[in-house]
Amino acid sequence: MSDYQSLIDEAKNILAQLKTENSKSKNLNAKYLGKKGLFKSLGSKIKDLAPEEKKAFGQLLNQLKTDLQQELDQRSSNQENTREKIDLSLPGKKKEIGHVHPISQAIEEITDIFAKIGFQRSRYNEVDWDHYVFTALNMPANHPARDEWETFFVKQKADKKLGKVVMTTHTSNGQVREMERLNHQPPIRMINIARCYRRQSDNTHTQMFHQFEGLVIDKDINIQHLKGTIDHFAREFYGPGTKSRIRPFHFKFTEPSFEVDFSCHICGGTGKIKNEAGEISPCRFCKSGWHEVGGAGMIHPNVLKAGGIDSRKYRGFAFGWGIERTYTLREGLNIDDIRHFYSGNLEFLKQF
Ligand code: FA5
Repeated sequence: MSDYQSLIDEAKNILAQLKTENSKSKNLNAKYLGKKGLFKSLGSKIKDLAPEEKKAFGQLLNQLKTDLQQELDQRSSNQENTREKIDLSLPGKKKEIGHVHPISQAIEEITDIFAKIGFQRSRYNEVDWDHYVFTALNMPANHPARDEWETFFVKQKADKKLGKVVMTTHTSNGQVREMERLNHQPPIRMINIARCYRRQSDNTHTQMFHQFEGLVIDKDINIQHLKGTIDHFAREFYGPGTKSRIRPFHFKFTEPSFEVDFSCHICGGTGKIKNEAGEISPCRFCKSGWHEVGGAGMIHPNVLKAGGIDSRKYRGFAFGWGIERTYTLREGLNIDDIRHFYSGNLEFLKQF
């Protein structure tokens, strides 16, 4: 049985103890009036008292509860009052608003430029089967042309038909995928914009970069259509004075194949610059008057075949250019290292 007098002393002590406490009101609430608090534990002892003591002790507990509550309310209102005051006359804090990454801006612009001439935007896999990245593009297993693409392979079981899994090295994987998506039925006018991956890193190469891949398949398509498309892009993206040229090259999936260059905006395509004293020197930006942006060509009949399209009925062209490279050649941009785009350096990114 509990000793009546010692319980009364305990009750008085609880209030006295609270008055000396220096803690947050939330913690005090839990300690004194909470489910496992001191008041609850004291109340649980009432059952041990004699009947005549129970009434008096119950009244004492009621009073104690009111006193504890008052004290705690007082504490919490004091804390409220000492909180930081807001000075409404101070100027507001400006929230920093970000903006779209320059490469995403370029992607939107490129999409619009090609949409104007009927190209439909697509986005094919960044991780794809070897079949779409190489084999279907006329580069069978073990063909030495595959070495030019410094490929990352994904550790995953190879498929009997489609081969290993790779990080796509170019957006050309979208060519046969688009032919399949459209049920092998031209006309096709695709602009595939996606991320690509290669084991390369220097001031003009990043391990992750973007390409945009044009693919046109229809009856009677010829090189004129390809050149016209390149010229349209040059005018729209770089300005009306920009010239383009195609040079013979070799890709396994196009025949004939070309490299595509745009004229340099610094020297106007001459490769030479005149300084203030009238002296002529080679343009430091391009050295030749031209900048290479990527490859292009007429689609190889084996690629049409892999995509289930009859090469006697249909012909097509394709091109694939790097977005980072294409973008940095724009007038007024002086970007000496394309890795800046992905460095997370806000000082650099805020300029665009
Ligand atoms: C290709 O990737 C071909 N698929 C292009 C093509 C498509 C040809 C359709 C014919 C028909 P190439 O490896 O040259 O080609 O790359 C094209 C462009 O991608 C380069 O000129 C460059 O602008 C960009 N590029 C390539 N590797 C990187 C890299 N590591 N970092 C940044 N840009 C790159």
